[in-house]
Amino acid sequence: MTLEESLKSLNPQQLEAVNYDAGPCLIVAGAGTGKTKTLTTKIAKLIADGYHPARILAVTFTNKAAQEMRERVEALVPGAGKKVWIHTFHSFGVRILRQNAQALGLSRDFAIYDDSDQKKVVSLILEQMGIKDPKKEISQIVSLISRAKDDMVSPETMMQSATASGLDFKIRAAEVYRRYEQKLKEAGALDFGDLLVKTVVLLRDHEDIRNYYQEFFEYILVDEYQDTN
Ligand SMILES: Nc1ncnc2c1ncn2[C@@H]1O[C@H](COP(=O)(O)OP(=O)(O)O)[C@@H](O)[C@H]1O
Ligand SMILES: [Mg+2]
Repeated sequence: MTLEESLKSLNPQQLEAVNYDAGPCLIVAGAGTGKTKTLTTKIAKLIADGYHPARILAVTFTNKAAQEMRERVEALVPGAGKKVWIHTFHSFGVRILRQNAQALGLSRDFAIYDDSDQKKVVSLILEQMGIKDPKKEISQIVSLISRAKDDMVSPETMMQSATASGLDFKIRAAEVYRRYEQKLKEAGALDFGDLLVKTVVLLRDHEDIRNYYQEFFEYILVDEYQDTN
């Protein structure tokens, strides 16, 4: 489908969203009503209107959705699919973090720990802490750490609330979290949660870097926005 054909196939509301160019815009519509189609057509239209593909950022949640978005854009504007910054939130984080590794005291080729790496680290820490039957707690603690990172809760803050609760398990989990962060730091590695948290912190705390990307991106589009935190 060409851009012309895609534009013609849109309903009036979709077309209005594609042509809108006066600031932030939120599209609210049910599943399967054509939000992603609107978004990809909008990207193609922006490029046709002269926006630079490499200065358009489109983010979504899953690799599959990002891949699909890329294919749809590529079909509408051959050659542009590769240039547009189409990413999952995590892969966007990886790209920004690698570009600014130095500012974070990281190596540009930092390792990324997945769920099984996380479990290995937690397992080792529990062993080092002399926990008798560590297997039972590994997954639970990995989830607690991931949730803490989602909420941008530090090991110190987790320890404070754990101490206040007086619950042994919570205190142990907070201690594991502290050691876990230490181990990742020593290994120069980031876990999936870090990819989001460190990106937020980078942009929040470094005004020059934030300004750079605010200037660099001419357009930012977010699919599946209802799933963001
Ligand atoms: N105006 C339209 N006319 C015809 N088909 C459409 C229209 N809008 C969307 N579709 C089709 O409906 C399906 C769902 O669209 P999609 O953009 O994936 O929806 P959503 O992202 O809202 O879940 C796709 O196959 C898409 O091509
Ligand atoms: Mg969609």
